[in-house]
Order: sequence, then structure tokens, then C-alpha cells
Amino acid sequence: MGQQKIRKAVFPVAGLGTRFLPATKAVPKEMLTVVDKPVIQYVVDEAAEAGIEHFVFVTGRGKGVIEDYFDIQFELEQMLRERNKNAELTLLADLLPTAGTASFTRQQVPLGLGHAVWCARDIVGNEPFAVLLPDMIMSSEKSCLKGMVEVYDKTGGNVLAVEECDPALAHKYGIVGVGDKVGEEGFKITQMIEKPAKGTAPSNFFINGRYILQPEIFKILETQERGAGNEIQLTDGMLALAKSQDFSAYHFKGETYDCGAKDGFILANLAFALKRDDIRPLIEGPLKAITSKL
Ligand code: G1P
Repeated sequence: MGQQKIRKAVFPVAGLGTRFLPATKAVPKEMLTVVDKPVIQYVVDEAAEAGIEHFVFVTGRGKGVIEDYFDIQFELEQMLRERNKNAELTLLADLLPTAGTASFTRQQVPLGLGHAVWCARDIVGNEPFAVLLPDMIMSSEKSCLKGMVEVYDKTGGNVLAVEECDPALAHKYGIVGVGDKVGEEGFKITQMIEKPAKGTAPSNFFINGRYILQPEIFKILETQERGAGNEIQLTDGMLALAKSQDFSAYHFKGETYDCGAKDGFILANLAFALKRDDIRPLIEGPLKAITSKL
């Protein structure tokens, strides 16, 4: 079946980062560094690997540095040229989005994820699109969004990435109900609930922060009532959309790190550093020495 290509991805980057104070008092959480790249770069790379052509950032107050990061840094690059630092120049050039492929819009008031996604409606327009929550960075052979696009190519409609969590932690996430299998890596979603009360979750499959959505979601989000946490929830909007459209899940089996939390961020740094051939030999021994003294 020929599905409409997923060309655009929305990155809701307006979040305040309160779980990571004081680090995030003056630096957006998306700009914190995992090894040698800001968190947001990992998420953008994942989207690019899945074929995304246009990157839509929903920013907010104090997040201007994200926009600067995706622009040229004239003085720095001039200085690198004068000093013949060609490797560094190439690195920066490779990471620069092609002109016209990054858009920025603002969510002026933090009303919730559903509202943040709605803020991107005019830039996305009338086509299916992806949403990637920038807190979550992932490590796997095939990128999470790429796996979702493969499911989407079979099913069309809407596709969410899910993972299994400890049932005792289900109340922290959006949780889906599990229906018929779709291929080897997916299943039909029968139910969705945002932050279910303890003991009421329909499964332990949680929405891990990656979505492929049809544009009809925007109309729904426009009038979506506040839900869990008194915020306009994307999950509630999706539940309404599920009355008229299919939702499928892609069961992601790689590692996910929640970089909006201190433990997830530290683990991400360790995991990505240990995967790097230039860094692993430098830290493996010292790391063992630190843990052996605990
Ligand atoms: C958001 C979503 C939730 C999802 C989670 C993944 O919640 O609303 O459905 O499971 O991200 O991290 P938040 O973490 O913003 O509370």
C-alpha cells in the first residue's frame, strides 16, 4: 500500500526542565550535552535517519539558543577557517540543516504536550507527520522512528512507539491497550490512557515519546479539554481521533534514556560514551575503579 510519506517532524522543545534544576535554569534541557552533542541533536539525527525532510521546533521563552544551534556561527567559523581547523568546520557544516528545512514556532504558555503539537499546525499543514519528544534519546541498530515508518508503510493511519515498563511505573506514562499483531514488531492499539491511576493501566506498554499522526489531530487538539496534570494532553486528543482512525504500535526494543531526568541523562552519557571507540578505552578502567570503591 502506498502511504503518504512522513516528511515533517515536530519537536516540542518548550518544556521548562524543572526535573533538572539548577542545570536548566539558564540552559534549555535540550541543549545539555550527551558526550559531545546536545540532546536535541540525537533526536534530530533519529528523525533524519527515518527520512524526515523538515524539522519543526515548538520553542518557548529562554529557548532561543536552540534556534542559534541550528544556524551558522559566523565568528566561530571564521576563526576556524583562519586557523585551518578543517575537521571542525566539516563537523559543523555536516550538522547544519539545509536552508529552509528547519522551522521554529513558539508555545507562549506551557499548556501541555497536546497544545505544543497544536502550535505546529500551520507549518505541518494537511499531511501526516511525526512527533519526537526531545527528552527521550534512543540507542538501537534501527532508529525508533525508522521502525515506526516501516509499520506505517504497512498500516497507514497513526503509529505510536511503545515499550514495556515495570507495571508499578505505568502511572507515569501514556499507556496503550494491546490488540492484534501487525507483522513482527507491531500490534493494533485498542485503548489509550494518559497517566492511569495506579492499578488501572490496561497493559504495561507505555508510549515512549515517538508518534506518527494524521493531520486530523490538529482539529481535535484545538478544542481538547485539559486532562491529567491539568494540561492539554496529546494522548486525550489521540483517543478522540481513534474513534475514526486506526492506531498501531511499533514495539521498540532498543534502549531509551529519559534525559529530562538526572538518572536517565547520566546513563545516556555513560552508554553513548562506552559505545565510542575513541572514548571507551579512556574511561573503562577509571569507571571500574570508581565502582569498585563504592
Ligand atoms: C509524555 C506523554 C506520555 C508519554 C511520555 C514519555 O508525558 O504525555 O504519554 O508516555 O511523555 O516520556 P510527560 O513525560 O511529558 O509527562
